[in-house]
Amino acid sequence: MRVIVTKNYEESCQAVANEIITQVQKKSDSKLGLATGGTAEQVYPYLVKAYKEGTVDFSQITSVNLDEYIGMDPESPQSYRQYMADRFFDPAGIDKTKTYVPSGLTKAEDEIALFNEKLYADKMIDLQLLGVGVSGHIGFNEPGEKLTSGVHIEKLDDSTIAANSRFFDSPDDVPKEAITMGIGDIMKAEKIVLIATGENKVPVIKALLTDDEITCKIPATMLKMHRDVTIVIDAELAKAAG
Ligand code: F6R
Repeated sequence: MRVIVTKNYEESCQAVANEIITQVQKKSDSKLGLATGGTAEQVYPYLVKAYKEGTVDFSQITSVNLDEYIGMDPESPQSYRQYMADRFFDPAGIDKTKTYVPSGLTKAEDEIALFNEKLYADKMIDLQLLGVGVSGHIGFNEPGEKLTSGVHIEKLDDSTIAANSRFFDSPDDVPKEAITMGIGDIMKAEKIVLIATGENKVPVIKALLTDDEITCKIPATMLKMHRDVTIVIDAELAKAAG
């Protein structure tokens, strides 16, 4: 596991963007696995900046997003489809027909089939971007007695609902379930880049970096089994998790 410790969150975002830019410079038709959430949010402006400066060309990429809330209308401002359109796809001139963000409105069985097709019909993900939840989730794979390998519907952990209520009017408005890539889907990516910041991520980062345990109770610890993972954290988080 490679760990990049930066001065602050801004630098972490730049470092993560650099990983993605380098990937696309090396392989213009890269398939990117993309994440939403508060931490990943400030990575996208660096990608857009590089695109506008002509440093990188995203016109050949394809992408698949990790997850979406069940019941969420893709047209809603809170949807991950809209998040991606606003922050990355539209400002970076990306052809949206080459992108996939799961829909939380379609019948689950149909959406799972489509998600699998987008993941596996063509080529595998070259680089998967990840955030990590306070629960230790990656994608929306929540802690429990067992984890699920493939695309599935996941009941969100109470801590995830509490953490994500900042994006909604009230905790009651946070959807209770999500469609998500499974742990096995995430682990099949060639390369994984995880970004984390903030005091509430200390226990998870500690479990990831300072001991050798792999446990379903902290799903992110599964990443210890992957061959090419880069964890990008700022000095404050590194010190607290140290
Ligand atoms: C988002 C996703 C989630 C988030 C995680 C961290 O697509 O898959 O795993 O990365 O919940 O979210 P923030 O950064 O808001 O703490």
